[in-house]
Amino acid sequence: MTVDRVIVAERVLDRKVAIVTGGASGIGRATALLFAQAGARVAIFDLDETGGEQAVEEIQSNGGSAIFVRTDVSLAHDVETAVKRAAEKFGQLDVSFNGAGLSGRKWGDGPTADCTEEAWDRVLAINLKSVFLGCKYAIREMLKAGGGAIVNLSSVLGLVGGDEDFATHAYAASKGGIISLTRSIAAYYAPQQIRANVICPGLIAGAPRRTRRFARACVNFNR
Ligand SMILES: NC(=O)c1ccc[n+]([C@@H]2O[C@H](COP(=O)([O-])OP(=O)(O)OC[C@H]3O[C@@H](n4cnc5c(N)ncnc54)[C@H](O)[C@@H]3O)[C@@H](O)[C@H]2O)c1
Repeated sequence: MTVDRVIVAERVLDRKVAIVTGGASGIGRATALLFAQAGARVAIFDLDETGGEQAVEEIQSNGGSAIFVRTDVSLAHDVETAVKRAAEKFGQLDVSFNGAGLSGRKWGDGPTADCTEEAWDRVLAINLKSVFLGCKYAIREMLKAGGGAIVNLSSVLGLVGGDEDFATHAYAASKGGIISLTRSIAAYYAPQQIRANVICPGLIAGAPRRTRRFARACVNFNR
């Protein structure tokens, strides 16, 4: 049996409350649906209202419980308000999955010498500052509850950097920052029963941005 089927069959998140940022689409949406199938009540934070509401409807039509909170995860006020709303609605917070993110190519991310300041600021805000904010406000709720679990979404590029096949250096730096932040959180908050882990996916099937170049880059990384 695959891991996701075990998680669902054993209802490992029964009665837990989970936040999923980026839950309107892609990896975040799949995570929100899986968490709900595993028994969690899910709060989806995303900018995409249509996708977010659709994800909530899908969870509810399968007997689960979920809310959508329109949130810009790069803004402290938005994240603080959304976390409080989720904790108030469901009475607790156990899991924080920080999955919202983007590629900065559109704003000029690229090799360091060519990367625009706008791309750097935007990518670092949406990919890295968002994870800091998501963890910051979730940890405050988890400390009240006596513990919790954080899962942050990085990338293989956060481990190996962006070579000539995938030279988006702001993106790679943001994903490397997520790894380091998660390590710090795990080390510091372990005595307070808060676990923190990071996932570094390669190419994910079903994601909107798939190119042969990226696939080739992932193969090169494995050498
Ligand atoms: N798809 C891949 O192959 C792959 C590989 C490695 C890492 N990742 C990482 O996984 C994460 C999700 O990727 P995906 O492919 O599922 O992308 P996706 O575009 O399908 O999902 C990203 C979600 O984040 C949301 N989002 C973006 N900016 C936001 C903001 N400011 N506030 C709130 N929500 C915001 C989007 O609306 C979207 O719903 C990203 O961080 C990406 O870097 C993806």
